[in-house]
Amino acid sequence: MGHLVLVGMMGSGKTSVGELVAERLGRKLVDSDAVIEARTGRTVREIFEADGEAAFRTLESEALAEALASPQPAVVAAAGGVVLDEANRELLRSGGGRRVVWLDADPSVLAARVEKGDHRPLLGDDPEAAMVRLDRERRPLYREVADHRVDVSGQDLAEVAEAVLALVPA
Ligand code: S3P
Repeated sequence: MGHLVLVGMMGSGKTSVGELVAERLGRKLVDSDAVIEARTGRTVREIFEADGEAAFRTLESEALAEALASPQPAVVAAAGGVVLDEANRELLRSGGGRRVVWLDADPSVLAARVEKGDHRPLLGDDPEAAMVRLDRERRPLYREVADHRVDVSGQDLAEVAEAVLALVPA
């Protein structure tokens, strides 16, 4: 199997679940936000504030394309906004034996568990309102790219990791 890509909203557990799944599969975890922060030496928030969201999205598309082009099958935790760009969506759908798993939950559930912080400037002062708005905009886009959807509500990280592993060939 090619890359295993986790998509979904902020707070859905892509990075934490990705770590568990990568360990079990003996693969590397590639987290698009971490790649950008390592490459630029700046936090996601700093990039948003200094250069704007569009500049961040360009870096994000580059990080995604690079991760998917790598021949070594990895687990890729793709940040919440990757689906906004049509070229990214096409890339995610373009086969290559990869599987895209959408970690999904109601925005109110995600808002309650999401941590604000230096890589989530879009949450602002009212994370729940931001999540509801982003969920409305993005739900069809996650659906468009996903091979599988896992409902993460009421499941801890280990349970979600098991559900993801059950979807992929051993
Ligand atoms: C964003 C999600 C964040 C980060 C940035 C924008 C988004 O990553 O890339 O704050 O637009 O959903 P996570 O999905 O890893 O939280």
